[in-house]
Amino acid sequence: MKLSADQIVQYQRDGFLVLEDFVDGASCDRLRARAEELVQEFDPQGVVSIFSTHEQNRTTDAYFLESGSEIRFFFEEHAFHPDGSLKQNKEQSINKIGHALHDLDPVFNQFSRARKIRELTASLGIEDPLLLQSMYIFKQPNIGGEVTCHQDGTFLYTEPVQIAGLWFALEKATLTNGCLWVLPGGHRLGLKSRWVRTDEGGMRFEVIDPEPFSEEQLVPLEVMKGTLIVLHGLLPHKSLANRSPKSRHAYTLHIIGGNSVYPASNWLQRLPATPLRGFD
Ligand code: FE2
Repeated sequence: MKLSADQIVQYQRDGFLVLEDFVDGASCDRLRARAEELVQEFDPQGVVSIFSTHEQNRTTDAYFLESGSEIRFFFEEHAFHPDGSLKQNKEQSINKIGHALHDLDPVFNQFSRARKIRELTASLGIEDPLLLQSMYIFKQPNIGGEVTCHQDGTFLYTEPVQIAGLWFALEKATLTNGCLWVLPGGHRLGLKSRWVRTDEGGMRFEVIDPEPFSEEQLVPLEVMKGTLIVLHGLLPHKSLANRSPKSRHAYTLHIIGGNSVYPASNWLQRLPATPLRGFD
């Protein structure tokens, strides 16, 4: 799966590529089935309560901030009653699973290290690629949360910037179930901010360019199941809430250049026992 010269020009110009039928239907279904199994095995006791008090919120932060080497489960914001109990079963309440699925789970490992993806990454010019982060995103029916406009480089920064986000549609993504929106060419405007660790162990935004994104210029990418959307690490993108009765499952993989510097101030840090790996 090598990109054509035209596709590479398009990626450099627009900051994204839409590759239809990149993944066959059976492979999409296999990831869906595996994600379902993982959720079924997940015991939400103790995590559900995290959202209810200040003290427990701090636990949530650690649960998130230490998830770079783990498989962890994050709830939809609107999944809870005011008393902290779930409004519906956990299968319909999880926002995403992250962030080391690609290393720790055999099914996701096999999918993520497919030859096709390795070749695509090489075509993008990412040298010595490392698979940094994976997420299974549910965008649940009715309560699927909005993801506000951002650049992935804000959260996953490398110096120089060598980051690609691969967004695999495991179901049809439409305007009504919360498809991706992108700002064509917006990657050429530079990085707006970084999300950096503080000395106190929390996170803060470090603003580089206070000029907001021109959000009215974002365009929706409605895609069929099996489509891969490649996103440049500096491309502004978002997705709206899903208030439809249909889910919008997607799998994302973020790949960085191994020769770039990966700062200790990034939120995602791997434990020494589980260093980042490439495609081998
Ligand atoms: Fe993103």
